[in-house]
Amino acid sequence: MTRHLITSAIPYINGIKHLGNLVGSQLPADLYARYLRARGHEVLFLCATDEHGTPAELAAAKAGKPVAEYCAEMHDVQTRIADGFGLSFDHFGRSSSIQNQKLTQHFAGALYDQGLIEEVEQRQIYSETDGRFLPDRYVEGTCPNCGFEDARGDQCDNCTKQLDPEDLINPRSTVSGATDLEMRATKHLFLKQSQMKDQLDAWINSKTDWPVLTTSIAKKWLHDGDGLQDRGITRDLSWGVPVKRGNEDWPGMEGKVFYVWFDAPIEYIACAQEWVDAGKGSDWESWWRTDKGADDVRYTQFMGKDNVPFHTLSFPATIMGSGEPWKLVDYIKSFNYLTYDGGQFSTSRGRGVFMDQALEILPADTWRWWLLSHAPETSDAEFTWENFQASVNKDLADVLGNFISRITKFCRSKFSEDVPAAGEYGPAEHALIADLTERVARYQTAMEAMEVRKSAAELRAIWAAGNEYLQAEAPWTTFKTDPDKAAAQVRLALNLIPLYAVLSAPFIPTTAASMLESMHVEDAQWPDDVPAALGQLTPGHAFDVPEVLFTKITDEQRDEWAERFAGVRD
Ligand code: MF3
Ligand code: ZN
Repeated sequence: MTRHLITSAIPYINGIKHLGNLVGSQLPADLYARYLRARGHEVLFLCATDEHGTPAELAAAKAGKPVAEYCAEMHDVQTRIADGFGLSFDHFGRSSSIQNQKLTQHFAGALYDQGLIEEVEQRQIYSETDGRFLPDRYVEGTCPNCGFEDARGDQCDNCTKQLDPEDLINPRSTVSGATDLEMRATKHLFLKQSQMKDQLDAWINSKTDWPVLTTSIAKKWLHDGDGLQDRGITRDLSWGVPVKRGNEDWPGMEGKVFYVWFDAPIEYIACAQEWVDAGKGSDWESWWRTDKGADDVRYTQFMGKDNVPFHTLSFPATIMGSGEPWKLVDYIKSFNYLTYDGGQFSTSRGRGVFMDQALEILPADTWRWWLLSHAPETSDAEFTWENFQASVNKDLADVLGNFISRITKFCRSKFSEDVPAAGEYGPAEHALIADLTERVARYQTAMEAMEVRKSAAELRAIWAAGNEYLQAEAPWTTFKTDPDKAAAQVRLALNLIPLYAVLSAPFIPTTAASMLESMHVEDAQWPDDVPAALGQLTPGHAFDVPEVLFTKITDEQRDEWAERFAGVRD
């Protein structure tokens, strides 16, 4: 058994994520974590909210709340929604935690000691009234090119000219409206990533088993155009991790914080500390320090393609550059985008389905199934209501749900709510068992390789095999002439239910649990031996006919939802 560390890209704190975000990181990570746990591996599955940066400050200001309060509230909201989707994080942390603050400062100190941080003198706008340096986009004024009065310090939205805040006529602070602005000398820290190019290049080249999507993005950033640039890792904001090296103040860095993309991935490590500090675990170092046992850990990250450069280059540069024995990622599974009905999901226009809305209209398992079985793995994928309705109604209701309801009801009406004892298995039963044994092996191979769509297809085929067996053998017909043979058919079909439950649990955990409950199976095990697993419900074993597992989506619902989530037109 292996120890598996799994992280999903940590979602920004500002706002609720849409289904495209979910399927690009958290959901496939959960699928993999659940599968590995079911196979008996030790798993530490971590996620968190990404709480720093300008977007968090702006969202809090818009909500009229202090930023710390806003983040605490939104963290609770995101926690509840994650629970609603059955995301089985061992801990859902916060990048604003004290653990992450200390660890981020520690990494900055270690990188400094290794000579990898450079202090760069810059001139930047300082606001006397606000008592702070202003980032470019926090300064507005009149455009020197077109006279537009609300041009931003980085660009004029009217004539699109790129600007420096110094160019603006009558500049003012967007924080306070103050006009007593002046240019002052200030320092920022740069991480000298360019010095690590060869090391990163060799590391990426050694990852021959990674998805092409992951390595092609990494190589593009390493070799195209300007290549790997040194990276500014400090910002003039008040919300963030204060710049220090270890526990010491950093002269000239007063009032500055680390750039959000510097501290966010460090939260993967800090989150393991939060997990321990929350009393859920006892040892985080054995997961993260190669000198403390993490050499035996297999570390897998899940993310959308826009996150790949940060995980293949920037974060590894932080880890390698520290000169300390931290665990590097072993495998990066990345995803393309999910589009919504011919366009993009859009938060500002309310276009597409967001995670809270999804749970309001249908159970989590319905979404989990559709999203995972249509994961944007090799190319972008599109959500349409027609496709969603068709696959939910067919795969979940007609194939899986119908199989279970048909066989349990038939058994109750012709025998009882106990597994019947009579009859022997014949060639059709043995053929089904052999077929399922092969299919389960293929399903496992796909799951181990994190081939999400393929895994879903194998699982669907496993469900369909049961339906086809029932259709062909028709115990309701057999019963009229040979009730004992019908009893044997029913016994095998009933035994498929706990098998299906265990196999399906990584995709549809809530439904799987209720399937096991109706079959009165308490400690369900992974079917390492399929024929044996298909004998677990022995004659006389009691069960209940389950409630309807999946209700079909009607045409009216489909049309209503399509309209409701279309978004407001610009
Ligand atoms: N918040 C980022 C996003 O949603 C992801 C951050 S991942 C981490 O795109 F590596 F920075 F943690
Ligand atoms: Zn202009």
